[in-house]
Amino acid sequence: MAEDCYRDNALYAELKKVIEEKKGLEKPLIEILRDAQEIFGYLPEEVQRFIAEELNMPLSEVYGVVTFYNFFSMKPRGKYVINVCTGTACYVKGAPRLLQMLSDELKIELGGTTPDNQFTLTSVRCVGACSLAPVFVIGEDTFGRIENRDKLKEILKKYRQA
Ligand code: FES
Repeated sequence: MAEDCYRDNALYAELKKVIEEKKGLEKPLIEILRDAQEIFGYLPEEVQRFIAEELNMPLSEVYGVVTFYNFFSMKPRGKYVINVCTGTACYVKGAPRLLQMLSDELKIELGGTTPDNQFTLTSVRCVGACSLAPVFVIGEDTFGRIENRDKLKEILKKYRQA
């Protein structure tokens, strides 16, 4: 049966293992979704449905959580996710301009992914580096006080070559 096919996939086997490990927790859904996003890279509807069935809860409840938190994505993401901080300190110090510069450089809107799947541009709340505002984060790397486009280009170039 087509519906069961995806469940044979190794990624689903990994997810099932995670669900088994975590379903006894008091509120397992967010943790399971986090792990599912790590495993699949994003949370398509099939994955949400699988989790809903395994946890015996309505799909609408899973969907509600996925759409509420902006660190969950229902679309495939690029190799590098650029998180621009839009917390208060960064906002005041120029986060909108930084976002615009990134958007121009990558030729994508906020939430978009470049056609070569290298970069996804997204925003986050304070990442705890307010003294460097405005800040953006790529993976474990934090970049701050980006005042001009040349500096930004230099950073992106390194990731393009990576
Ligand atoms: S507000 Fe951006 S790092 Fe704190």
